[in-house]
Amino acid sequence: MVSSALGLGALCGLVLSLPGALAGFSSSANNNIEIYWGQNSVNRVGGQQRLSAYCSNTPLNVIPLAFLNVIKNPTSVNFANAGDNCTVFAGTQLLSCPQIEADIKTCQAAGKTITLSIGGATYTEGGFTSSSEASTWADKLWAMFGPVQSGSSALRPFGSAVVDGFDLDLEAASQNMGPFAVQLRNRMNSATAAGGKKYFLSAAPQCPFPDAAMGAMLDAVVFDYVSVQFYNNYCGATSFVPGAATQNNFNFATWDTWARSKSPPVKVLLGLPGSTSAAGSGYVSGSQLSALIAYCKQFSTFGGVMFWDMSQVYSNSGFLDSVVSYLGGSNPPPPPPPPPPPTSTTAPPPPTTLVTVTRTSSTPTPTPTGTLVQQWGQCGGIGYTGSTQCAPPYSCNYLSQWWAQCQ
Ligand SMILES: *[C@@H]1O[C@H](CO)[C@@H](O)[C@H](O)[C@H]1NC(C)=O
Repeated sequence: MVSSALGLGALCGLVLSLPGALAGFSSSANNNIEIYWGQNSVNRVGGQQRLSAYCSNTPLNVIPLAFLNVIKNPTSVNFANAGDNCTVFAGTQLLSCPQIEADIKTCQAAGKTITLSIGGATYTEGGFTSSSEASTWADKLWAMFGPVQSGSSALRPFGSAVVDGFDLDLEAASQNMGPFAVQLRNRMNSATAAGGKKYFLSAAPQCPFPDAAMGAMLDAVVFDYVSVQFYNNYCGATSFVPGAATQNNFNFATWDTWARSKSPPVKVLLGLPGSTSAAGSGYVSGSQLSALIAYCKQFSTFGGVMFWDMSQVYSNSGFLDSVVSYLGGSNPPPPPPPPPPPTSTTAPPPPTTLVTVTRTSSTPTPTPTGTLVQQWGQCGGIGYTGSTQCAPPYSCNYLSQWWAQCQ
C-alpha cells in the first residue's frame, strides 16, 4: 500500500419494507462490496468523512475499521483524521472514540457489517511468542471489541458498540497467528451459539499464493471470506487479460481452488485499489474492470469486491456506481428514487375572480421525454419517472426492480 501510513498492504422507510434490503455481508451472494475505512489514504482535508457518512443509502455491505495497528505493546488503534475526534484513555495510548461508537451503531442499524481490521502495513510485532499468548490476546481483544462482559475492566475504544467480527491484515511474518485466529473464531462461535448475532472472520492476503505472512493462519481455521489484494503484484488486476480462458499471472483461479478446499468453502473477494492513487499498481476501471468482474463471477467462491479505501473510492466520481453495475446490482439494491414532487394532474380550479397571476419559477418543469440519460444514470425502476432513453452508445439495462441504468 502506497499512499497511507498504515495502508492495507497496502433509505429508510421504503427500503425497510424490502426483504433482505438491509443486507450486510452475505456468504451466498456474489455481489458483496467491502470498503476499508479509517486510513484516509487520499490524505487530504475533507477526504475521509466520519464512518456514518458512508452507511445511509449506500451499496456497501462491509466496512472494516482500519486498523488495530498494535495488538500487544501497547494495544492501539489508528483511524487517521477520524482519530482526532477521539480522546485517550488515561495512562494509555489507546483511543476512546465515542463518535465511532455511535457511528458503528448507526451503520449496523443501516444493515452494514462492521469489522475491526487487525494489522496493516505498519504492524511489526511479529505475532506472539506462543500459542497460549496468542489465545490470551484473542480473549483480550474479544473483551475490548466483542460483547460487553459484565465485571470486565477491559478498555473499550468503541464503548458499548460491538463489532461484527475481525479482519486480519498482516503483511510481515508473524508467529502463532493461527492459534490467535482459532481463539477469535471460538469466541465468536460461542457467542453466536449462546443466542448472539453472527460474527465474521476475514483476512486480506496479498495475491501471491500462498500468502507469505498469513498462509499458515489461513489454513488454521475456516474464514468466512478472504479479500485478496489483487494489486501491487504481478498476480494483480492489471495482469488480467480480457478474453483469455487461462490467465497466466492474474491468479483468482488459484485462490478459488484453495477456497473450495475448505468446508464450508471460503468466499473470495476481488480486492482492488479504489482509485489511481490508492496503490502502486492494480487500479482498473471501465471495460477492463467489467471484464475482470465477469471473469471472476464464473468461480463459485467469488463473493464480490473489496476496495482500499473509502476515501479513495469516494474521491473517484462515478466509480462505485460503475462497480455496482458490473456486479449486476448491489445487495441491498439502491434505494428507490425519492417520490417526484407533487404535480397536479388536473387543471387548477379557475380563479374565482379575474386576477392576473404572474407565475415565476414555482411550476415544476416536467422532464422532457426527449432527455437522454448519460452513462451510469438511472433509466428505469419502480417509482422512477425520468427519461428512459440512454445517450448513445449506451442502452438501458435492468439491474433490479428498483434500478435500471444506462451502460
Ligand atoms: C469529526 O467530528 C466532526 C464533528 O462532529 C465531524 O463533522 C467530522 O466529520 C468528524 N471527522 C471524522 C473524520 O470523523
